[in-house]
Amino acid sequence: MIRVWIVLLMVVSNLFSSSVVGLDNSTVPPVVNIGVLYSFNTSVGRIVKIAVEAAVADINSDTSILGNTKLNLSLQEDSKYRGFLSIAEALQLMATHTVAIIGPQTSTTAHVISHIANELQVPLLSFSATDPTLSSLQFPFFIRTAFNDIFQMTAIADIVSHFGWREVIAVYGDDDHGRNGIGGLGDKLAERRCKISFKAPMPPEATSEEITDVLVQVALAESRVIVLHTSTAWGPKVLSVAKSLGMMQNGYVWIATTFLTSFIDIDSPLSSEEMDNMQGVIALRMYIPDSKLKRSFFSRWTNLTSGKEGNGPLGLSTYGIFAYDTVYVLARALDTFFKQGNRITFSPDPKISQISGDSLHLDAVKIFNEGNQLRKSIHEVNMTGVTGPFRYTSDGNLANPAYEIINVIGTGTRRIGYWSNYSGLSIVPPETLYSKPPNRSIENQKLLTVFWPGETTQRPRGWVFPNNGKMLKIGVPKRVSYREFVSQVQSTDTFKGFCIDVFLSAVNLLPYAVPYKFIPYGDGQSNPSNTELVRLITTGVFDAAVGDITITTERTRMVDFTQPYIESGLVVVASVKKTDSNAWAFLTPFTPMMWTVTAIFFLLVGAVVWILEHRLNDDFRGPPKKQVATILWFSFSTMFFAHRENTVSTLGRFVLLIWLFVVLIINSSYTASLTSILTVQQLSSSIKGIESLVNSKEPIGYMQGSFARSYLIDEIGIHESRLVPLKTPEETMKALEKGPQKGGVAAYINERAYIELFLSSRCDFSIVGQEFTRNGWGYAFPPDSPLAVDLSTAILELAENGDLQRIHDKWLLSSACRSQGAKLEVDRLNLKSFWGLYLVCGLACFLALLIYLIQTMRQYKKHSPEELESSGHGSGSSRLRTFLSFVDEKEDAVKSRKRRQMERMSYRSTSEVGSNIISNKDLSLSSTSLNRIDSANEV
Ligand SMILES: *[C@@H]1O[C@H](CO)[C@@H](O)[C@H](O)[C@H]1NC(C)=O
Ligand SMILES: *[C@@H]1O[C@H](CO)[C@@H](O)[C@H](O)[C@H]1NC(C)=O
Ligand SMILES: *[C@@H]1O[C@H](CO)[C@@H](O)[C@H](O)[C@H]1NC(C)=O
Ligand SMILES: *[C@@H]1O[C@H](CO)[C@@H](O)[C@H](O)[C@H]1NC(C)=O
Ligand SMILES: *[C@@H]1O[C@H](CO)[C@@H](O)[C@H](O)[C@H]1NC(C)=O
Ligand SMILES: *[C@@H]1O[C@H](CO)[C@@H](O)[C@H](O)[C@H]1NC(C)=O
Repeated sequence: MIRVWIVLLMVVSNLFSSSVVGLDNSTVPPVVNIGVLYSFNTSVGRIVKIAVEAAVADINSDTSILGNTKLNLSLQEDSKYRGFLSIAEALQLMATHTVAIIGPQTSTTAHVISHIANELQVPLLSFSATDPTLSSLQFPFFIRTAFNDIFQMTAIADIVSHFGWREVIAVYGDDDHGRNGIGGLGDKLAERRCKISFKAPMPPEATSEEITDVLVQVALAESRVIVLHTSTAWGPKVLSVAKSLGMMQNGYVWIATTFLTSFIDIDSPLSSEEMDNMQGVIALRMYIPDSKLKRSFFSRWTNLTSGKEGNGPLGLSTYGIFAYDTVYVLARALDTFFKQGNRITFSPDPKISQISGDSLHLDAVKIFNEGNQLRKSIHEVNMTGVTGPFRYTSDGNLANPAYEIINVIGTGTRRIGYWSNYSGLSIVPPETLYSKPPNRSIENQKLLTVFWPGETTQRPRGWVFPNNGKMLKIGVPKRVSYREFVSQVQSTDTFKGFCIDVFLSAVNLLPYAVPYKFIPYGDGQSNPSNTELVRLITTGVFDAAVGDITITTERTRMVDFTQPYIESGLVVVASVKKTDSNAWAFLTPFTPMMWTVTAIFFLLVGAVVWILEHRLNDDFRGPPKKQVATILWFSFSTMFFAHRENTVSTLGRFVLLIWLFVVLIINSSYTASLTSILTVQQLSSSIKGIESLVNSKEPIGYMQGSFARSYLIDEIGIHESRLVPLKTPEETMKALEKGPQKGGVAAYINERAYIELFLSSRCDFSIVGQEFTRNGWGYAFPPDSPLAVDLSTAILELAENGDLQRIHDKWLLSSACRSQGAKLEVDRLNLKSFWGLYLVCGLACFLALLIYLIQTMRQYKKHSPEELESSGHGSGSSRLRTFLSFVDEKEDAVKSRKRRQMERMSYRSTSEVGSNIISNKDLSLSSTSLNRIDSANEV
């Protein structure tokens, strides 16, 4: 308390001694006061002091920045660098009319004094207070001149997801810096579907005992990936405690934030004991691209530190370089600030004067009137410093944040890659990537080989079974039926069955031992409900469940399932009777429609051929009765290619050719279909599938304890009263045999896996219809269990190498009944498969008729103009009559041709000379040409 008063007294005395600068607005002031609030008595503080002093000296000797204006640096030791004293120290600095304060060192102090900076409008420039929440709109005067920790946390989240870990443990100092940094880490991990499974806060400046207490809890947790986010001052102590607790061994992953690299850089070379404590640790370091400025600064560093007090030369940490650049940023901003014509004025804060009274003398601190302009100038700085290009993005963060990723091995460190906000993890320096489009694809994320704790390069699994030594309690249902899947060996605690064998084989494939014991679940009288078994995992009674557990939506809400190891959708089983082929089986190959269309086409083709042939072919002539008989006889005889009538016209032959082709195809299809119908055994049932069941009112059986019950009620909408639980296959068989009339069930609904077993010895029943759900069986684990993921991989491996099928065949032999290829439904051939054929045939008929009509019309016109004239311009009907008589007139021509043929035959018999030059084709020509040929013959 006394100390506070001393500080406040100093504040007051400063007020009276300080001179007000910049009163003259026509020229820039000769001196600008800037303050540094830092704990110079820490390792980081020591190098910061050297760097800041060097920067001020450089700027003051360089007239290109700020002209002749000098920076007057006031160093304020932040002796207890957190808490109330820091407020007093900040006030003291501000009372000296500083235009800006560099510092503070820690985020905790920054949070407190940002309120003062806001009130007095004095910008705070800090390069080591990296807490992401300091960037909030609440603190406009806090300006961070290094990278926001949120990017560091993004980098860690990227590393975690790059190595495929899902859960991490966060160990941190429970102050603003630690808490808010880890909060950011949680957000970034969540974006990558990972999480912090356990937060282990430690008191800031924890003692070894406190660290031990926390780390012992960490060692008991499941995750083995530990993110360490503390301060340079005491962070390394955590690693040495961890080493002594055996937590730096094989299997552990330690990811440290920038505090560790800063420790390594400043105190290098470290003692071999210190190095031993952090073997295999991954750490981040703010990335500063290689440049001439950086190299010359490094070579200057030895000169700068050699003369100073302390134990020999100090290493250079990135904080030192950022401190140096921070002074430059401020100088450049002031330069712009003055060039814009601004001046530096202070005025008393009326609010402070009112409240303080005389006792506190707070009115010594004054408001920096142009603070806002200076703040804006700082945000607009665009320069190249030792840390590389330096400018702010619109959200107030430094542009292009990047980190080096360091792996501690042997006596030194090794860089295993970089992380940049631009492209994520890479093994090439980030600045080479900025010219390319950003690429965050998984293939592009690369890191070099890491040497993990325990001197292994094999990626640690990242988790272990919690509560070491305890067995995994696995719940197994005590089934009373279908014991092939899972059953308890009589009076022992062991289980056997298909599900158990698959589980054991999968566990054997895991690269680590899984200690477990099976615990039976169920009363042994009826099948236990698997949903209840799964529910017990959520309450912690079991750590897993193994058995015939169907993966359903309801259950996946409670637990995580492995990949399904057997597919098993719901099916309907009904009793079926064999149908003997009946007397009318020959009708079945075609649908009625098909039969009808086929018959119509037979008649149609017959008619068309008759029309085409009628004029020329004697076979198609005669009295109308006979002609109709001919048409029918002709068309149906084509069915067997047995038609005797000759076709003589081209068009007739064309139509017949196509038709015969159609007949050929229909014949062979019919034959094939009938053969299959008569030879393959037919089964029939009144139930055709789940749809027909829903619409009926008959009772339906289901396996007691199965999820099918709730599925049928909730999803399918079957009334509860219709569902009959059936325990055993025997009970099921009886109920199905009785049928719904005698108090049995119409059908039985269960999963395919059980049904296959059920049907293997019962051939009177069969699956009807399709499988109407697509389920599978899996093993249940608590949500986000890494074991579920590993077992899934193992199950897939079993499926791929064929072991799964072998285990299946061992327990669930395929049945004899199902292999007979019994079919329930006859696949009749319908019109759909043939309409193309009929279309072609129909078109051919139509085309032939059309051509025939045109030809006949043409002949008719040529032949009868005089007739037309004599009868005058007859009406339409009289013209049609003439045309028809023309067509009929042909009859005489054919008659005379017949007569002549007879004559020719007798002529040919008497003389071998002469030839029948009249082809049938010629005969189809006009009657004039016929007459001409006749006369030629007679010559
Ligand atoms: C400079 O100060 C004088 C009074 O001292 C004032 O009249 C003048 O406007 C000021 N000029 C600027 C640019 O602020
Ligand atoms: C610096 O800290 C050490 C202990 O860490 C202490 O002994 C020493 O007195 C401090 N120096 C100053 C100037 O406060
Ligand atoms: C520099 O600042 C100190 C206070 O921190 C003050 O005593 C001193 O007079 C200032 N120097 C100049 C040249 O203004
Ligand atoms: C370091 O100091 C020595 C003399 O003190 C000087 O010769 C040398 O040039 C300095 N080096 C740098 C890089 O400043
Ligand atoms: C910063 O300066 C460089 C040149 O030095 C320029 O190319 C770049 O566009 C500037 N950036 C901004 C944001 O003004
Ligand atoms: C970081 O990257 C994101 C997008 O990847 C971008 O929106 C953001 O502005 C970047 N931040 C900085 C400071 O470069």
